[in-house]
Amino acid sequence: MRKIVIAGNWKMFKTQAETQEFLRGFLPNLEETPEGREVVLCPPFTNLNVLSKTLHGSRIQLGAQNIHWEENGAYTGEISGPMLTESGVRFVIVGHSERRQYFCETDATVNLRLKAAQRYGLTPILCVGETKQQRDAGETESLISTQLEKDLIDVNQDNLVIAYEPIWAIGTGDTCEAKEANRVIGLIRSQLSNPNVSIQYGGSVKPENIDEIMAQPEIDGALVGGASLEPASFARIVNHK
Ligand code: PGA
Repeated sequence: MRKIVIAGNWKMFKTQAETQEFLRGFLPNLEETPEGREVVLCPPFTNLNVLSKTLHGSRIQLGAQNIHWEENGAYTGEISGPMLTESGVRFVIVGHSERRQYFCETDATVNLRLKAAQRYGLTPILCVGETKQQRDAGETESLISTQLEKDLIDVNQDNLVIAYEPIWAIGTGDTCEAKEANRVIGLIRSQLSNPNVSIQYGGSVKPENIDEIMAQPEIDGALVGGASLEPASFARIVNHK
């Protein structure tokens, strides 16, 4: 069964005090959230503990934004699976385009991180997607197909979420047409061995476009950046029609 998964990717935003403020505005809205919808928040690491305590027993699941493949070691700036699970984390974003672009993440390291997440019982959210240049050159399909092929080597598709995130739509306000996102997500699904993997769309998801996005048959949720930072807009997205 494909699940609906709505995840907020807070990137490098919000202190602990700002997180508490967000929760005060956001949590009451979850009373209206339909059953069976997974709501995930992926804050900076420093907020995981405070969120884990506050959210205990609520509808929100905790996600992280990165995971290293070793259990521990001399890897300055990285974080490991046991550190995340100890903080109540259940999901982890892997291969986000910002990590691929700015922090030299490759398909090989994405693959290692995906397998590590699963080894520690976490559900990875694998991000794939093309740049504007690649789209204009007609390379969208081949690029995504190569990413999937390399990233998913020996990855268990029974415990996986994928996010299709066209890079040109991230943080730009320039959303991919819902029908086009649906088409690409259909192609992604056709390349998987498990047809029940939930596949999200990500890239300028907002209260104004969430209903159209979620009305598409192939789209199982959203990975939301900017619009997840504000309680009312994230609540509208989580509680979409
Ligand atoms: P955005 O970011 O919603 O701000 O475009 C999405 C993402 O980077 O996951």
